[in-house]
Amino acid sequence: MTNATSILETLPPPIRTQADVRTLPRELPSLRIGSVPIGFPVVQAALSGYSDGPMRIVARRLGAPYTLAEVMIDKFILELKNRTRTRHHLFIADEEHPVGGQLMGSNPDDFGPAAQKLVSAGFDVIDINFGCPVKTAVGGCRGGYHLSQPEVALEIVARVRDAVPSAIPVTLKMRRGIDDSAESRDRFYRILDGAFARGAAAITVHGRTVEQKYVGPSNWDFLREVKQHAGSRTIIGSGDVFTAQACLDMLTYTGVDGVSAARGAIGNPWIFQQARALVAGHPLPEPSLTEQRRVMVMQCELCALNSDASAVNSTMRMFGIKFARLHPQHAEVRNAFATARNLDEWRGVLDRWYSSE
Ligand SMILES: Cc1cc2nc3c(=O)[nH]c(=O)nc-3n(C[C@H](O)[C@H](O)[C@H](O)COP(=O)(O)O)c2cc1C
Repeated sequence: MTNATSILETLPPPIRTQADVRTLPRELPSLRIGSVPIGFPVVQAALSGYSDGPMRIVARRLGAPYTLAEVMIDKFILELKNRTRTRHHLFIADEEHPVGGQLMGSNPDDFGPAAQKLVSAGFDVIDINFGCPVKTAVGGCRGGYHLSQPEVALEIVARVRDAVPSAIPVTLKMRRGIDDSAESRDRFYRILDGAFARGAAAITVHGRTVEQKYVGPSNWDFLREVKQHAGSRTIIGSGDVFTAQACLDMLTYTGVDGVSAARGAIGNPWIFQQARALVAGHPLPEPSLTEQRRVMVMQCELCALNSDASAVNSTMRMFGIKFARLHPQHAEVRNAFATARNLDEWRGVLDRWYSSE
């Protein structure tokens, strides 16, 4: 079996709604992003404020075949110096490859040089953000704003494609439009087709609109339609992928070539190995408290390699709160992480809540 549409052919029709999907694909197609082989088609999304080096390394060690760094603004990349507080943005560990770097900006002129800087830093794929819905991005004519102006969006794609070596794939992240209007939908497809025509290797589509932000469901019917429209062109789906089962459900329901795990991977890096286990027909492996502790300590140690103690503490407090969702007494554990004032107190939370099994 070589492509995602063949997944659908192996399933008993009809699949009526998103909620109905529970049949497992027995075999999954291998994901490629242009010249870069990815393999298992569940990858880790770009996550601003989260997908730093340590989170990406943990995800890779626990089964993610590909990860993306958090979005970076083109001007920020161009101004980045080798300073202690910022150099980690362009630091990639050997074990991370393949890893994607994501760019966001307003002016097409700035994208090419910024993309080249990401390539020099070692990113294997350059991803362009046409999805960010936050006020500062949209107000600054960046991210999701570009979905309202296909000509500018396509100029950006062309500039990035021209600027980076042909062996480096250029990809896009889009939402399904600015809003639910017919014009927005028309612009979505103009950008999608135009980007592929200009050499984009894959496009990740988040099934929410910019206007929607994170409210309401990601429209998987739209993802299915996009994949049917794209044919053999590579589409990665995003939105409402909170569990390993949901990763497989998205693949089977929509036929996309890959799935991007976002919020479902924050504080749950086991989602990748769980998805692999489900495909293999094995029981869902739930991480024990000992395993949760091991991985949090690993992430903390990775953080400490490139950050000072106070930065490590605030990062690990934030991640601890997310990891706490897997703990049987999650409200108390969440509160304990939230109030840890330093790394000693953070380690104390591990000793208090994660030592017995
Ligand atoms: C905290 C947070 C940060 C995000 N940062 C980025 C980002 O830097 N780049 C990007 O393309 N998408 C970003 N996203 C969007 C996600 O990659 C994903 O498309 C979205 O969360 C939908 O997936 P989900 O419903 O499974 O979480 C972010 C989402 C969240 C919640």
